[in-house]
Amino acid sequence: MEYQYILALETSCDETSAAVIANGKILANIVATQEVHIKYGGVIPELASRNHDLFISSVVEEALEKAQVTFQDLNAIAVTQGPGLLGPLMVGITFAKALSWSLSIPIIGINHLQAHIAALYILQPNPDFPLLCLLVSGGHTQLVLLDDRYTQTILGTTIDDAAGEAFDKTAKLLGLPYPGGPMLDKLSQKGNPFAFSFPMPKVGMYDFSFSGIKTAIKNFVQLNTTANSEFVNDNLSDICASVQESINAYLIKKCEKALFDFKPLSIAVVGGVSANSDLRKKMHTLAAKHQVSFLVPELVYCTDNAGMIAIAAHYACLNNDFIELDAVPFTR
Ligand code: KG4
Ligand code: ZN
Repeated sequence: MEYQYILALETSCDETSAAVIANGKILANIVATQEVHIKYGGVIPELASRNHDLFISSVVEEALEKAQVTFQDLNAIAVTQGPGLLGPLMVGITFAKALSWSLSIPIIGINHLQAHIAALYILQPNPDFPLLCLLVSGGHTQLVLLDDRYTQTILGTTIDDAAGEAFDKTAKLLGLPYPGGPMLDKLSQKGNPFAFSFPMPKVGMYDFSFSGIKTAIKNFVQLNTTANSEFVNDNLSDICASVQESINAYLIKKCEKALFDFKPLSIAVVGGVSANSDLRKKMHTLAAKHQVSFLVPELVYCTDNAGMIAIAAHYACLNNDFIELDAVPFTR
């Protein structure tokens, strides 16, 4: 069966997003970021659910309008099934079920992490496999080896915080607004990445740990502010650049180990943290050093968006991978 128009929804955290895809080409990708969480310094699940409920219809209408498609044109509806926050996921899934029932079209349930990886295929539908992919988001950190689009092995994962959390928690310590990653990236551009150094965590093989870096930075800030209360203000860009350097160098070291061991033909970085300008540069340099191709999504497809759900759905459809009306979300 040919699936021409797919509407895709993403509501797993604090972005309400809808996209339309036709035969692998994204026609619209509307993302409404819920700014209500900024003042709390993190996502409040109940507020996120309520705001998804408020925004989802208008975000969907805007996506359809931009794609110049009507509800009647749709052949399938895709939705993030998990992992994510239960209430927010429920909003997207319930909306998808209602549309599926009223339009008599099938539902495609998408794994959010798979979708971050599928975002690569928007720019490059046929990468060279095996592909080593570093997935770094606010909730997850994984090193994944893909033999093809549908076959993958998780080589390693974080044993505590995710890479995005390391950025966000450090930024919070430095008094920067949530989410801290983008601001830390911006401030780092004016700083010296080698002004301060933080110890590299030691966990086996391809797993990651970020709680040590976080504690080291916390102690470093406390110690220095005792001596000089203006320490953070006086050295903000250097601290940001040094923290960013520690986190990114650590991610690169893990990727390089896997590169040596598995000899992939391409490497990639995906997820919200792949928007980090320094990490994109470092991954590019690593690929050049090992003479493999390098893939990274365009910035709009790095942080949460329904475009990545749409491209994942496109390939799920080709594989006849649908869910039933009684499907439930999964949080992990
Ligand atoms: O993938 P994502 O949008 O949401 C999850 O699935 O978690 O990732 C969000 C994470 C946040 O921790 C945010 O601070 C981080 O991505 N992030 C960045 C940058 N842009 C977003 N981290 C570092 N540098 C950036 N430019
Ligand atoms: Zn995400």
